[in-house]
Amino acid sequence: MVLTGGGDCPGLNAVIRGIVKRASQEKDWEVVGCIESFNGVLREPTEIEILDEKRVEGLQIQGGTIIGTTNKGGPFAWPVKQSDGTWTTVDRSDEMLRKLQYLGIDAVINIGGDGSQRISLGLYNKGLNIVGVPKTIDNDLSMTDYTFGFQTAVQICTDAIDKLVTTAASHNRVFIMEVMGRDAGWIALHSAIAGGADICLIPEIPYDIEKVKAKIEQRYNKRRGYCIIVVAEGAMPKGGTVTGTETGEVGYQHVKLGGVGEQLAADLKAAGVEHDIRCTILGHLQRGGTPIAFDRVLATEFGVRAMEFVLEGRFGQMVAYHHPDIVGVSLEEAVRTPHFIDPNERLVHTAKGVGIEMGD
Ligand code: F6P
Repeated sequence: MVLTGGGDCPGLNAVIRGIVKRASQEKDWEVVGCIESFNGVLREPTEIEILDEKRVEGLQIQGGTIIGTTNKGGPFAWPVKQSDGTWTTVDRSDEMLRKLQYLGIDAVINIGGDGSQRISLGLYNKGLNIVGVPKTIDNDLSMTDYTFGFQTAVQICTDAIDKLVTTAASHNRVFIMEVMGRDAGWIALHSAIAGGADICLIPEIPYDIEKVKAKIEQRYNKRRGYCIIVVAEGAMPKGGTVTGTETGEVGYQHVKLGGVGEQLAADLKAAGVEHDIRCTILGHLQRGGTPIAFDRVLATEFGVRAMEFVLEGRFGQMVAYHHPDIVGVSLEEAVRTPHFIDPNERLVHTAKGVGIEMGD
């Protein structure tokens, strides 16, 4: 059984296709997809779908996931409405494991980010035959060089910067582009370098508004000039906090980030920046559409190897890219430490080397 969990990501379908195509080369294996992560098996009636070669034909180019995904619910935190109208969560993992046994599921491949792989680990510790596949546009898993979907998101952001440059230059404007990146600024940092941005603000380096202002002024000769700022949604000013709202959505366990770009624009105005400032929020555009070739290849490699891990009985592991190989790491290791940007790391040095202000 294969499932996709957490936020969607370009390349999910390519992984599913890799799994199904590799499985079809074996006798006695049939792949089913569980709809919306584990929720499909937790629901009554059960929502699972047979995935055969016909169903996955051409899927390597298709964004999203044909079996749906969710970042709500799951076996360890199933939302239940109480008599007073408020919601609580219950652990349904044992019940789910019994149901998987009843359904004759021999193994599970869970394609997801850190939250999903924590669920994989919890279920593995309870005896489930499970293999993880790392997914996230944020690239914040430490045990793989890259997650699939990340390079596609970076390409989308880079294309957006290329477009913003021409309008910014035409109007002598400061453009703030807000990108995804809850705790990790990888998308912001890569796209800022690729797009030639002037300022890059990331969650790992709280920014000094005066440094941002000084860089903007450096980019102008009196009123002529322009400036491109890339800001990750999880970035914050020194001594400040992230910008976001509670969604109120049942089972959603995060603050919905967003708005740091507009907040930065207001703070820069308050700090005395007189140039026009405009803000563009890329949001979920970064997760949509077709994966670029790199992500299709990586996702396909992950899918094929994940199925082979099942055949080899390598459960409790996550497939990972350690250039040039696809290896296995234990799920425990996979979720132990997130992959954040170290302010002293090479890529930050490179960014500063081409004059990008990081706000520190
Ligand atoms: O985890 C990936 C991510 O893209 C984060 O950067 C972002 O905060 C989050 O998903 C938003 O996802 P959703 O709107 O689906 O909850």
